[in-house]
Amino acid sequence: MNPVPQLEDLGDLDGKSVLLRADFNVPITDGRIDDDLRIRAALPTIRWLLGAGAGSITACSHLGRPKGKPDERYSMDPVRDRLSELLPDAGARTKVELAENLRFDPGEEANDPAFVDKLVAGHDVYVNDAFGAAHRAHASIVGPPRTLPSAAGRLLAKEVEVLGGLLDQPARPFVAILGGSKVSDKLGVIEALLAKVDTLLVGGGMCFTFLASLGHPVGDSLLEEDQVEACGRFLATGKVQIPEDIVALAPDGHEVRMVGTRVPNGWKGLDVGPGTAAAFGDVIGEARTIFWNGPMGVFEDARFEAGTRAVAQSCADARGFTIVGGGDSAAALAKFRLDDEIDHVSTGGGASLELLEQGDLPGLEALRGAPNGKGH
Ligand code: 3PG
Ligand code: MG
Repeated sequence: MNPVPQLEDLGDLDGKSVLLRADFNVPITDGRIDDDLRIRAALPTIRWLLGAGAGSITACSHLGRPKGKPDERYSMDPVRDRLSELLPDAGARTKVELAENLRFDPGEEANDPAFVDKLVAGHDVYVNDAFGAAHRAHASIVGPPRTLPSAAGRLLAKEVEVLGGLLDQPARPFVAILGGSKVSDKLGVIEALLAKVDTLLVGGGMCFTFLASLGHPVGDSLLEEDQVEACGRFLATGKVQIPEDIVALAPDGHEVRMVGTRVPNGWKGLDVGPGTAAAFGDVIGEARTIFWNGPMGVFEDARFEAGTRAVAQSCADARGFTIVGGGDSAAALAKFRLDDEIDHVSTGGGASLELLEQGDLPGLEALRGAPNGKGH
């Protein structure tokens, strides 16, 4: 991947006004932040900028999907409070401001040049530290580098180094574990990973389309008929390992039972079974590089959390280098309190998958095109 300008490439920052795009899209329930990982992850960049003498920092982010108009439920207030708690001292706090939710203006998602003008007005330089949003060609991501000297923040740089490294020279065996509900969402990334990995372990809702491609009945489990053929092709590579047992919910919605790879009529597979968890654990234990994205089952429900917990534990115990994609798998790690045992927990879900699939992101391309960038 071509390099993007780094903080050091911004030159003298003394007294300058910095526009900082962060991804502070954190989970919030009743005004309380459930997980502040994304806010803490931006602190090294903020501290670096303050240390370099920046006169002011205007941080901006989206939060949720308010669809182009102000909506109290997506106010940045909880983030603003948390940020000021986390900042080192009062002097620093007065220099850092957090703008209102970018997506309150339709210009953000539309990448409207007039909105970009509003964002950059009064700022001398732009820093993008929003890895989790760098796959969105939105105004705050791709607009400012058209005019302002720009750089990747520390978080963005680190994410790109670690995830990009998977595509370069991963230590082998390289094992990827994919879960989540839809094959159709992950077609591109499955293809990209199959070109790189030694083994791809598949669980979660999408495993049923793989099972169906082998002729197994899947009952009422998630099934994407139009992806059965693609799953057959993926299996033909010989690199894909799918579940050997399933935890299923009865048609009555109460009884839970272990089944093999054939889900009875009316039953719904909602987790991988203990045989699968053990088999996946063996493969993970042997690996030197491990990438995990997507839960193995409906882990929010205690009856269907065991498969995801087992994979999380196998990653935590692994001797290989472990990378976990953001979103649901990061949430699962946090729930099982295993996040500290992982080498790199990404702050980006969609962004990490798109980086693996495309080998680049709109936000990175934009930085390369900045006045101080190194060209495309
Ligand atoms: C995320 O949480 O995945 C990022 O913040 C991007 O948000 P989005 O999917 O709403 O664009
Ligand atoms: Mg998303």
